[in-house]
Amino acid sequence: MSCAHGLVSNESIFSIDASSLAFGPGAVAEAGAQLAALGARRVAVFTDPRVAKLEPLAVVRASLAAANVDFELFEDCHVEPKDVYLTDAVAFAREGRFDGYLSVGGGSAIDTCKLAALYATYPADLLAYVNAPVGEGRAVPGPLPPHVACPTTSGTGSECTGIAVFDLRERNIKTAVASRRLRPTLALVDPTFTKTLPSEVVAASGFDVLCHALESFTARRFDTRARPASPGLRPMSQGQNPWSDLGSREALRLAGTFFVRATLDASDAEARAGLSWAATLAGIAFGNAGVHLPHAMSYAVAGLVRDYRAPGYPDHGPMVPHGVSVIVSAPSVFRATSATGPARHLEAAALLGADVHGAGPEDAGEILGRHIERLMQRTRVPLGLGALGYTGADLDALARGAAVQRRLLDNAPMAVDEARLRELFTGAMRYEGESRS
Ligand SMILES: [Fe+2]
Repeated sequence: MSCAHGLVSNESIFSIDASSLAFGPGAVAEAGAQLAALGARRVAVFTDPRVAKLEPLAVVRASLAAANVDFELFEDCHVEPKDVYLTDAVAFAREGRFDGYLSVGGGSAIDTCKLAALYATYPADLLAYVNAPVGEGRAVPGPLPPHVACPTTSGTGSECTGIAVFDLRERNIKTAVASRRLRPTLALVDPTFTKTLPSEVVAASGFDVLCHALESFTARRFDTRARPASPGLRPMSQGQNPWSDLGSREALRLAGTFFVRATLDASDAEARAGLSWAATLAGIAFGNAGVHLPHAMSYAVAGLVRDYRAPGYPDHGPMVPHGVSVIVSAPSVFRATSATGPARHLEAAALLGADVHGAGPEDAGEILGRHIERLMQRTRVPLGLGALGYTGADLDALARGAAVQRRLLDNAPMAVDEARLRELFTGAMRYEGESRS
């Protein structure tokens, strides 16, 4: 929009895309009644082979039956979904003529469900709705049928966002569709479902929570963008704003209190419930602010993996769990971005439990970076890209892979080009954890 002098004016408005959710023990048992109230009579249920055998799916089945909602099950959602699996998911959704959707599982099941509902409702080539420049970036044409999302890991926050990520094998990168229309109609979060998660899954998904909150909290401010020509063009990833700050701060405080406990002790119900609530709050925050560099870089880290196999996850070949692919670059990134907002970086470190006594603005990046490294060491995740099998020979490809994630890079608090990304990846090659202190 131009002002009276013909100059482009800055954004002065932030918007709140509220997530509709119910949180607490027993929430998923209400799935059938909630879908019936949304007018659904024939529902597609998306889950993965592991969750299909566990309590959450049994609860969903009983709930749908009790509400007289007809359903069919698609249990072939895979961790870090690949385009080839999506084809099957879309075919299932299209042929079933469903009027409602339910996802139960981690972010991959929820994202697969979002994409299946989209491409079954508005058929198009896979790349049509994918963010530019990887895809065409076409707008989702209209509303989607109701989708009730039931997360079983405390991490992705996908139940609160309009973003769906998948692995584009032909380009060896992860990419995403982002649209408000993809946001689930309702999220049902039962924190007791996380009690059976392996420690490695809690660690990886917990670091995803941490990064959602940290990146939302340190993203470029919403009022540094140009004002859109119309309200509909205001991006979902609008940058750091007063609403997202509420969720980010509380998610960081909860993660600082509960993350290590929840990872190391499956019987610590208070910690696992606390981390679930942190995941939900961080999901709300990044659904309104957007993430930036660690997530942009994670897409290349996950996409270019050669032979790393993740303990605690089903072994379908080399794979870096999303949360690990994100956190591995985070210390390097926050050391670099701290100069754009030292007070925020220091506050984030303090919320996460770091000792910031006597620290000045110039110390902020090092304190936050080192505290994240300690958390990585205490929760036993790989300490740097080297531990995932990457070497200096991979730096160019990693930087190239991250440089195409324009939506995320544009949300960073500083300008980055491919050369800068290479430097950030170089800084992420090795960390030393506690031994540095
Ligand atoms: Fe994430």
